[in-house]
Parts: sequence; structure tokens; C-alpha cells
Amino acid sequence: SSVLRVALLGGGTVGAAVARHLLQHADRYAASLGRRPELTGVAVRDTTRVRDGIPAQLLTTDATALAEDPGTEVVVEVMGGIEPAGSLVEAALRRGAQVVTANKQLVARRGEELHALAREHGGGLHYEAAVMAAVPVLSVVRDSLAGDEVTAIRGIVNGSTNYVLDLVAREGVPFAEAVRQAGELGYLEADPTEDLEGLDAAAKVAILARMAWGVALPLDEVATTGISGLTDADFAAAAGRGEVLKLVADARRDPQGGVRARVAPTALPASDALAQARGGTNVVEIEAVLAGAVRLSGAGAGGDQTASAVLGDLVRAAGATRVG
Ligand code: NDP
Ligand code: HSE
Repeated sequence: SSVLRVALLGGGTVGAAVARHLLQHADRYAASLGRRPELTGVAVRDTTRVRDGIPAQLLTTDATALAEDPGTEVVVEVMGGIEPAGSLVEAALRRGAQVVTANKQLVARRGEELHALAREHGGGLHYEAAVMAAVPVLSVVRDSLAGDEVTAIRGIVNGSTNYVLDLVAREGVPFAEAVRQAGELGYLEADPTEDLEGLDAAAKVAILARMAWGVALPLDEVATTGISGLTDADFAAAAGRGEVLKLVADARRDPQGGVRARVAPTALPASDALAQARGGTNVVEIEAVLAGAVRLSGAGAGGDQTASAVLGDLVRAAGATRVG
């Protein structure tokens, strides 16, 4: 048909941005999607709250009905959490829909199984937004470097903790105040311990490892330390050595052919590209045999920035629906 029906599960920081752009620029999206996008609804918990960019009549609490509607070709999950998001994504995949999600925890935990469901039922699973938001790192690892051999990936993949570390280190802002500011900017997860304890970065590094090496890396195999245990003394000691404290995520091939991944606060020399990431910026350095080091950086969090990646996946998802 000439319409592409899209359901939005979640109308928060990311969902509202996706809805706003899709509705305000419907003509442009009609061109890139090949069909005019039609939002079938936006699932939220509280339909009485006014949301910038989302017409009130689109709001519903019935996420299941949106996900299961057989006429909806693309389901965009920007709700977060493992449940009910997982069941909703599963239901959409079981009826052969294209699913776009920004949910790194879900993809890190159930990615293999969800990919298998997509294959089995002729649908698709897209999650560029789940890792580094606006920075298209998954596309680069999957597509651009498909003819090369990635050996290591090292980066700052969590925007909120980088914002916090940068504010503390450069401006002497107290840790708790910096955390509050990161939350105000929409950088923090609904459960901030995901960011502060490194679990968000661990999920992202597991997804990157899967993309680079095809290995399913259980989250408990990513050695993870967050930033919550850092003290003023740690910042002072690093500064005294001319170093910068960053939350570094690292995954690499080990000589036995396995993959080792970790997330930990790390003191970097000021000259390191990762040390120079300011605010909510994310940076990743991919080492590949032929290419050498490839570096990508940009906004790793925020509503519009994440919407950029979600909408890119929507364009790919629309392309996939045309094939069938
Ligand atoms: P928010 O908390 O801002 O939004 C979540 C939305 O989902 C809200 O509209 C909420 O409703 C709705 N929701 C939650 N649970 C339910 C439920 N059980 N039934 C119906 N609706 C529900 O989260 P974000 O937009 O920040 O994040 C969404 C996803 O995107 C997460 O997976 C996150 O990890 C990921 N992400 C976020 C980034 C960011 O910078 N914010 C960057 C990259 C990825 P209500 O508004 O009524 O509470
Ligand atoms: N809370 C995450 C971050 C959002 O700070 O990076 C982007 O995934």
C-alpha cells in the first residue's frame, strides 16, 4: 500500500522525538521510506500527560494491541526495560513485523533468540540506536568493515557517565550535582544505576562484540565496574599525573579465539582520543587488520540524537517490508 503503518511503544525522551520528527517531516520521510508513514499509536503509561510532538489522540496504554495489530508493519520499541518490552517485541516478531528498538539491555540479553524469531517469521530486528545513539557504530562494524577483520573495539559508550566525569574533572562540580544535571539532559536511564554501575556500557559492549565476531557474550562475562565508587582523591590523583578518568569499554579477541570484554574507570593520558571526549560525547576506536584504527565520535545520548538512529533503522525496516 502507499502507507507505512508504524507503532511507537514508548513516548518518553526518545519516543517523543521520533514522533515529532516523523509527523513534522512526513513528506521527507514519505520520500525516504517509499511510503507515507502513519503512526498507529504511541504507548505510554500515563495518557493524561501532555507530550511535546505527540497528538493526544495517539496516546494509549494498550501497548499489546499496538504491537499485535496485524496491519502494522513496523513496531518501534522505545519503552526500555526487559518487560513488558521483551514480550511486545517478541509478539511483533512472531507475526513477521519489522522491529526497531533502542533497548540495549533487551538486545544484549535476548538478541540471539530475537534474531532467530525474526528469521523464522520473515521479519527484522534493527537496533542501531541501542549502541552510542547517533553514532552509527553498528553499521560500520557490520557493513563497512564486513570485508576486514576487527580485532579490538575500545570506547566511551555511555554518555551520562562521560558527562558526569567531564563535569567533575574539568569544572570541579560535585559528583551528585553532576549526576543530577545528566538526568536533566535526558542522558540517564530510567534506572540511573544502569549508567552509574556500568551496566549500560556492558550491554553495549556485548552487542558490539556480537556484531564484530558473531559471539553471544553473556552480560555476566563482561567484567564490569562503574563510576559510583570513584572518589575526589581518584580525580585529584589522575589530574596530578596529567591523566583523565574515563569509563572505558573494551572488547578484544584473545589468542585462543575467544572474546574478552570489560568496562572500567580508567586513567588515560590526556593525549588519548578517548580522554578528549567532552560532555555526553561518545567515542569508539575500532581496530581492524586492513583498516588499522577507525574512530567514530558523536552524541551518545539524548532524544533527537537517539531518534536519528531510530529513524535510520526505520528507513532500513521500510526497505525490508518492500521485499516481502
Ligand atoms: P523514557 O523513560 O523517557 O521513556 C519511556 C517511555 O515508555 C515513556 O513514555 C513511558 O510512559 C513508556 N513506558 C514505559 N513502560 C511502559 C509500559 N509498561 N507500558 C506503556 N508504556 C510504557 O526512556 P527513554 O526515551 O530515555 O529511553 C527509551 C529507550 O531508549 C530505552 O531502552 C533506553 O535505554 C534507550 N535509549 C535512550 C537514550 C537516551 O538518550 N534517552 C539513548 C539510547 C537509547 P510514561 O511516559 O507514561 O512514563
Ligand atoms: N543512558 C545512556 C547513556 C543513554 O548515558 O549513554 C544512551 O544509551
